[in-house]
Amino acid sequence: MSPLKEEALWAVEATKRLELIAEVDTAVLFHSWNQHKRYLDHLRTAFGQEEALHAVAIKTQPHPAILAQVVQWGFGLEAASMEEVQLAIQAGCSPDRIVFDSPVKTRREIQECNSKYPGIRFNVNSLEELHRLPGSPSFPVGIRINPMVETGAPSVYHVSHNESKFGVPLAEKEAILEAIDHYPVVQLHVHSGSSMANLDSAVAAIRSILDVAQEANMRLENKGVSRRIHSIDIGGGLMPEELTDSPSAMEGYVAALRTSCPDLWDYRIITEFGQWSYFYTGYAISKVEYAVQRGDARVAYVHLGADFLLRDAYVKPRGIEFVPLAEAAHRPLQCTDIAGPLCFAGDYLQKGLDLPRLEEGDDLLMLHTGSNAYALWSRHCSRTIPMVLGVDFATAQITVLSPRTNPFLGTI
Ligand SMILES: Cc1ncc(COP(=O)(O)O)c(C=O)c1O
Repeated sequence: MSPLKEEALWAVEATKRLELIAEVDTAVLFHSWNQHKRYLDHLRTAFGQEEALHAVAIKTQPHPAILAQVVQWGFGLEAASMEEVQLAIQAGCSPDRIVFDSPVKTRREIQECNSKYPGIRFNVNSLEELHRLPGSPSFPVGIRINPMVETGAPSVYHVSHNESKFGVPLAEKEAILEAIDHYPVVQLHVHSGSSMANLDSAVAAIRSILDVAQEANMRLENKGVSRRIHSIDIGGGLMPEELTDSPSAMEGYVAALRTSCPDLWDYRIITEFGQWSYFYTGYAISKVEYAVQRGDARVAYVHLGADFLLRDAYVKPRGIEFVPLAEAAHRPLQCTDIAGPLCFAGDYLQKGLDLPRLEEGDDLLMLHTGSNAYALWSRHCSRTIPMVLGVDFATAQITVLSPRTNPFLGTI
C-alpha cells in the first residue's frame, strides 16, 4: 500500500473520531504534510546545489497555509500573476525568493515590483516587455526563452511550439543576445511544458539555453561589462511520480542534466516544479449521494466533480485512484462511472472503472488530488469549496487549514 493511501485511510477514520466532519461536509479535502515535505526534500537533494532556488509553482496549489509551510521549509515560490506575488508575500516569502513569470504583466505591476518588491526575480515573456522596465530596476531581470522543442506534453500543456505565446523563440537568438547586451538581464528562463513525456527534449532545451548564456557572457566580457548571466531557471514540467526506494524520474532527469549540461551547476539553479511536487500530497473524500444502474454501468453521484478535478473532467483522467471505504470495499466489483454534481453532461471524473458496487451514503476516497485541483476550483453551479484539512501522519495531528467556503456566499 502506498504511504499516501495508508495515511488517508487513517486520516478519514481519525476525522470521524475527532468529529471534525459535520453532516454538511459532503466532501472534504486533505493535504499530507509528510508527503509534501518528502517530495520537496527529494527535489532539493536530487539537484544537490546549496544555493539553488526551488520556487514551487503557486498555481498548482495556492492554499495560503500550504504556501506558508513551503516558505518555512526554505523553498521559494513561482508566481504566475501579481495576485500570486501577493500570496507569496503574505506567505512570508522574501521577494528574492519569488520568481515572477506572468506572461501579461501590466506597466503598473512592473512599477509595483520595482517599488515594493526589490529583488523579486522578474522574468520577461518577450523582448518587447524589456522596454517597459524602469532604467535601473530594483530586481534581477530574466528572459523567458522558447526552446522550440517537442517535449511530448499534451497539446494544452505544451508551450514550446513555434507559435507559442510563451517566451522569445530561440530562433531569435541574435535579438536575445543584443537585448542581454543592452538591458540588465542576469537570468535566463525556460519552461518547456507540463507533463513532459520526452525528457531528452527538455534536457536539450536547457542545453540550448546554457549555450545562449555562455555566448552572452562572452559578449559581455568582450565589451568590458561586469554583469553576467548568473542564474538559469529551468522551470518545471515533470510528470507526477510515486516516490519509492528505486531511483526516481527526478533523479534520472538530474542525472541526464549532469551529463549533458554539467555547466548548469556553474549557475544558480532555479526550478519551478508544480505538479511533480504536489500530485501525491493530496486526497479527498466524498459521500456517494446515490447510485443508479444505467445498462451495465453503475453511476455513482458524488460531491466533487469538474469543479474540483477540472483537468480530469475536461482533458483526461490524470490517475486519481478511487477507493470505496468501510463495508463498501468488500462488495463485488462492478463497472462504475463516477458522476460529479455539476449540471453539465461532461461532469464525470472517470468512466468504466471496476469498483466495488457503490451505494447511497458510502464514503469514496480519491487519492492523488494534490495538484491542479483545489487550485483550479471552478465556480460552475456556485458550489461550496469543501473544508481543507492538513494531516501530519507522523505525529497523528489533523488541523483545519480552511473551513467550507462558498465563492459567492463566503463561509457557510
Ligand atoms: C512558467 C511555469 N513554470 C512552472 C510551471 C509548473 O509546471 P508543472 O506543474 O508542470 O511542473 C508552469 C505550469 O504551467 C509554468 O507555466
